[in-house]
Amino acid sequence: MTLVVTGGAGYVGSVCARHLLDAGHEVVLVDDLSTGHRDAVPEGARLVVGDVAEVADGVLAEGGIDGVVHCAARSLVGESTEQPAKYWHGNVLTTVALLDALRRHRVPRLVFSSSAATYGEPETSPIPEDAPTRPTNTYGATKLAVDLAIANYAAASGGELGAVSLRYFNVAGAHKGGADGDTGVPALGERHTVETHLIPLVLQVALGQREEIAVYGDDWPTPDGTCVRDYIHIDDLAEAHLLALDLLARGERPAGGHLVCNLGNGLGFSVLEVIEACRRVTGHPIPARVAPRRAGDPGVLVASAARARDLLGWKPTHTELDGIVADAWAFARARA
Ligand code: UFG
Repeated sequence: MTLVVTGGAGYVGSVCARHLLDAGHEVVLVDDLSTGHRDAVPEGARLVVGDVAEVADGVLAEGGIDGVVHCAARSLVGESTEQPAKYWHGNVLTTVALLDALRRHRVPRLVFSSSAATYGEPETSPIPEDAPTRPTNTYGATKLAVDLAIANYAAASGGELGAVSLRYFNVAGAHKGGADGDTGVPALGERHTVETHLIPLVLQVALGQREEIAVYGDDWPTPDGTCVRDYIHIDDLAEAHLLALDLLARGERPAGGHLVCNLGNGLGFSVLEVIEACRRVTGHPIPARVAPRRAGDPGVLVASAARARDLLGWKPTHTELDGIVADAWAFARARA
């Protein structure tokens, strides 16, 4: 297939593009390079630099596009609450423009990077896809709005558009192997200019780039009092995108043309357990300090990934926390 990956120079988009290329697909990336990196573009992919809302129509007008993997987004939870316009424009209006372009050019498949942030503070754990969606921050609200827009467009397309929203839990780790084969050093990983994610921040302490890690609250209703999350390896996450495209290519259209699928391992690890895993992997003592809770953080977010396993045939293979951390560590060390 010929596939467009938006946000293809970012962490998730670049690894998805790598997996698609390795599976023999042709890949066109769209990225405005505002948070992505030109050197993350996998060899063999064509990069179109520009805002999705401005360039998607032109790219799709070229014809022959079998599907779009839409990863481009604003994704800082804290910033989203301070600057809602950036998120409603960047995530929602941009995606509506993309949906219009998909319809105009009759592109039959869409896979969207949705988020566990759509659920907010869950009532049950693990979280199934039919759990109530009550996002606790603007980022989650915009991801939910896009899921709803996609459902509407797919339903109204008369079967022309099939779409899957993949609700990512906590994506982590790095993709091993470069364009020239497996070098042993992860070629693609997490490198945000503004880093807010737990594992890369803890690894910065091990690298001597920061003094200590702040633990956001130790009074949560969890076994050790710190927040619990479901960490999923970036390569397992990328594989789910290929499986979602396969499902749509087989014509197995979900009811209404839109399927929502959680992507997580169904295993929860606390902040302290993550820090402990980083200590084991790096051999560094990694000082930690308890800080106040972070606004908008739910206490526990663990996925029920039964649907992804049943409907997509997804089998995550990198489920060990130490292994996920080890790949992130190898990537961080190579770039330090
Ligand atoms: N944490 C700390 N200290 C830090 C950074 C994070 O204690 O310095 C904690 C957070 O409070 C949270 C856990 O570590 O409990 C994980 O935090 P991350 O920022 O790594 O990830 P989040 O769970 O906040 O975010 C993830 C995705 C978001 C998504 C969100 C859903 O990265 O895109 O899940 O709530 F919105």
